[in-house]
Amino acid sequence: MRDGELDYGTPTGAGRLRVELAGYLGRVRAARVDASGIVVTTGAAQGFALLAGALRDAGASTVGFEEPGSYGLRGHMEGHHVRLVPVPVDADGLDVAALDRAGVPAVIVTPAHQFPTGVVLAPARRAALVEWARRTGGLIIEDDYDAEFRYDRDPVGCVQGLAPDAVAYIGSVSKALAPALRLGWLAVPDKWRAAVAARKEWADLGGPVLEQLAFAELLASGGYDRHLRRARLEHRRRRDALVAALRRHLPGLRISGVAAGLHLVVELPAGVDDEALAERALAAGLGLLPLSRMRLAGGGPPGLVLGYAANPPGELESAVQTLASSYGAIHPAR
Ligand SMILES: Cc1ncc(COP(=O)(O)O)c(C=O)c1O
Repeated sequence: MRDGELDYGTPTGAGRLRVELAGYLGRVRAARVDASGIVVTTGAAQGFALLAGALRDAGASTVGFEEPGSYGLRGHMEGHHVRLVPVPVDADGLDVAALDRAGVPAVIVTPAHQFPTGVVLAPARRAALVEWARRTGGLIIEDDYDAEFRYDRDPVGCVQGLAPDAVAYIGSVSKALAPALRLGWLAVPDKWRAAVAARKEWADLGGPVLEQLAFAELLASGGYDRHLRRARLEHRRRRDALVAALRRHLPGLRISGVAAGLHLVVELPAGVDDEALAERALAAGLGLLPLSRMRLAGGGPPGLVLGYAANPPGELESAVQTLASSYGAIHPAR
């Protein structure tokens, strides 16, 4: 680093990183962003916070939210005084007709790998979503949280690449490197740029620069691509091990979603109390989330969200054995 780089920098992030990110997102995610339009954030969480503030300033305090959707993100947005309106997700992803009926000025979506169900937004729905945004002036907030990890084919490109004028694109290194780095990015349509940049400056005068420059170097050297190739192989091995263990010890339970990401959803028969099952599993040492907790409006079939990124195959096998005993205890009729 040069001396000057140790001063307060541009609040929207180190120039070197923004240039590298623009290239990376274009190449890997088919995004259409230029370096000057990127805001480097302290994680996707800050990207959402900046947008929440900018939307509120513009008089928009309700946002459509996938149902089911991320429990953590819901709390985060509500903490930033945004009212979330549930919009159902089916096998093709977000129900865009329902979004239209909801009459909201913005919507948060996870098109590449819906969180938590794991479905991919179907091509016709992607087109309908962009059409919705253009017709209503609505803002699509694309959370591209785990798109680097698709195991059966190349991931679909981001929706932002189809409509840079209508999509605020959010990503981070939390899934690919580590959440503790608190490093992410946000690219917004031109008309939102000034508001978001001002909010970033008021938030923290810019994030830590050492990490930004280190990440820029990792991108420029090709090290990030190499890491992703390695990580993809390992996570795929872990997912395969988890799926095999579920088929062995909990046959009959359906696994939803495509082979992607760092988690999967196991569907449970109607009437099973997934909260009670998650609690029992927690007492046995398993951290998993009940699907019902991911719904704002409630209802819908029960299920479990299982993460596998942090556990080698042997641990996943014994975790599923433990889960099968917990399930047997609360659902003896299976
Ligand atoms: C749906 C979703 N979006 C985004 C994130 C990433 O947040 P951050 O980049 O702030 O760590 C997560 C993390 O768990 C998530 O589950």
